[in-house]
Amino acid sequence: MNLVQSLDRRAVRGTLSEAVVDLSAIRDNVRTFRRLIPQDVLAVVKADAFGHGAVPVARAAVEAGATWLGVARTDEALRLRAGGLTVPILTWLYDAAELMLLGDLDVDVSVSTVAELQRVVSIPSVHNVHLKLDTGLHRAGSAPDQWIELTRAAAHYEALGAVAVRGIWSHLSHGDSPEALQSRRQLQLLRTGVSLARRAGLRPSVVHLANSAGAITLDAPDCDLVRIGAGLYGIDETGIGPRPAMRLMSKLAQVRRIRAGEGVSYGHDYIADRDTTVALVPLGYADGIPRVAVREASVLSRGVRMPVIGRIAMDQFVVDAGDLAVEPGEPVTVFGDGSDGAPTALDWAEWAGTIPHDIYCGIGSRVPRRYEEGIQ
Ligand SMILES: Cc1ncc(COP(=O)(O)O)c(C=O)c1O
Repeated sequence: MNLVQSLDRRAVRGTLSEAVVDLSAIRDNVRTFRRLIPQDVLAVVKADAFGHGAVPVARAAVEAGATWLGVARTDEALRLRAGGLTVPILTWLYDAAELMLLGDLDVDVSVSTVAELQRVVSIPSVHNVHLKLDTGLHRAGSAPDQWIELTRAAAHYEALGAVAVRGIWSHLSHGDSPEALQSRRQLQLLRTGVSLARRAGLRPSVVHLANSAGAITLDAPDCDLVRIGAGLYGIDETGIGPRPAMRLMSKLAQVRRIRAGEGVSYGHDYIADRDTTVALVPLGYADGIPRVAVREASVLSRGVRMPVIGRIAMDQFVVDAGDLAVEPGEPVTVFGDGSDGAPTALDWAEWAGTIPHDIYCGIGSRVPRRYEEGIQ
């Protein structure tokens, strides 16, 4: 083993902190969606499966019945194929220069314009494409007034055998909101788009619109697939109770007593109002602990919530252990599924003014991921 290979080993990255990912939670969450809705599940494993690790999560999702995988970038698709995932993969952000590789990997690509379609067609390996209609999010997708032109061009190239239109899709703008009116409007537009595509001669095998929350709230029996991200990782926007899969663990690195009136961390933003024990947690904003969470954040150690005090630094932060006789090496749960009284990723998101997706995705590469199978 050379030095570079050994850098990938846990021993070199250290074992003070780890993100423990319970793959049985991923499987359970896929099964929950499959039980509740008629559509097939596309597991969204972009951004390294929201920080959980794309290949292990994708394998678990497929084992539990997900029939598609979705990613945002070419390197993410490549990693899945290299990891042995053979199910259909859809990717939606790619550069023209990557099309040859995507074709070789048999990865479906999203197409929003005739110009994009022509770039796909110019690559000899036949691509499966999903035509994307902008139904209101106003990010990617064909403008409705260019849809007929796009579907006709796609039908033309399909007849020549240069491309295969496997899917038609769109993305909800209010997918996480109970305000379903906009989603219903988008579904209606997509339905119109599908019938226009059919009129142009296209026969897509999958039509898809909904994300995790939309999968539950939007009644769309004519859609074949739902694209599940948040729900896969236990982020619950609709009350169906998916299980959080990631637990961020650390160990107290140092413990010391300070006196009333002494300050903690940079700038002494925190001044102790009594003699107390402070303990160092070896995780910082470089590891994804949000700096802005400091006013309310806490962690769990010895079954007790310990408030974060003083500024969160790049590699470490300090907690107030009060008069508890804690020792270096004691386990700390930064966040978990909440069942043991530890904070959740949602708590951290609220403390930081963000969403749990951001917390999970932010857990940095210095934190090793360890996979386990929980007992259910
Ligand atoms: C295009 C697309 N579809 C589906 C999803 C999954 O959405 P959610 O995480 O709300 O399930 C995402 C992720 O953000 C996405 O970008």
